[in-house]
Amino acid sequence: MKAIFESADAVEIEIVVNGTRRTVRVPPLKRLLDVLRDDLELCGTKEGCGEGECGACTVLVDGVPRLSCITLVVSVAGRTVETIESVAQGGRMSRLQQAFHEKLGTQCGFCTPGMIMSAEALLRRDSTPSEAAIRAALGGNLCRCTGYVKIIESVQCACQESGIRGQVSDLATRHASRPVDAAVTDSCPLIPDP
Ligand code: FES
Ligand code: FES
Repeated sequence: MKAIFESADAVEIEIVVNGTRRTVRVPPLKRLLDVLRDDLELCGTKEGCGEGECGACTVLVDGVPRLSCITLVVSVAGRTVETIESVAQGGRMSRLQQAFHEKLGTQCGFCTPGMIMSAEALLRRDSTPSEAAIRAALGGNLCRCTGYVKIIESVQCACQESGIRGQVSDLATRHASRPVDAAVTDSCPLIPDP
């Protein structure tokens, strides 16, 4: 693989990353994950297995979850890519991030960016998903810490708060999310704390 990288010509491509048009000149076999982390310095997207098995590297390509560790960057030329860095705005967590924080859906946090992006895609197409739908949407995201129950509860909490307050949890409403420090003192009103 190294020889291929060294002998291949670099290609220049444009990608809209988190709403900004970016131009990168890279070897054609470079992974999207490496371009995000190394070329664009967006290190929120994690590499776990590097083989398409764990979901830690999940980003959205044209709004659809994609595993960036097995996605060649040339395949997303001209398309939109959203990473975890696009979710929080101006120091404010999104509804989903806030729910993960409040419901202890994150422990070591390594899987969390991928979990959030997969859940985000789900909530854009279904603002009130069933537990089964949440489990299905997150089925490709592995977590070694939480046992998944808290993660499912976090997504449910984000949905239910969205329903009550008319705030659908997607990036279009991220500006309506509350400050980070508010999340420390508030808790989800619908799911009791343990
Ligand atoms: S790092 Fe991409 S699926 Fe595991
Ligand atoms: S919180 Fe540690 S792997 Fe999920």
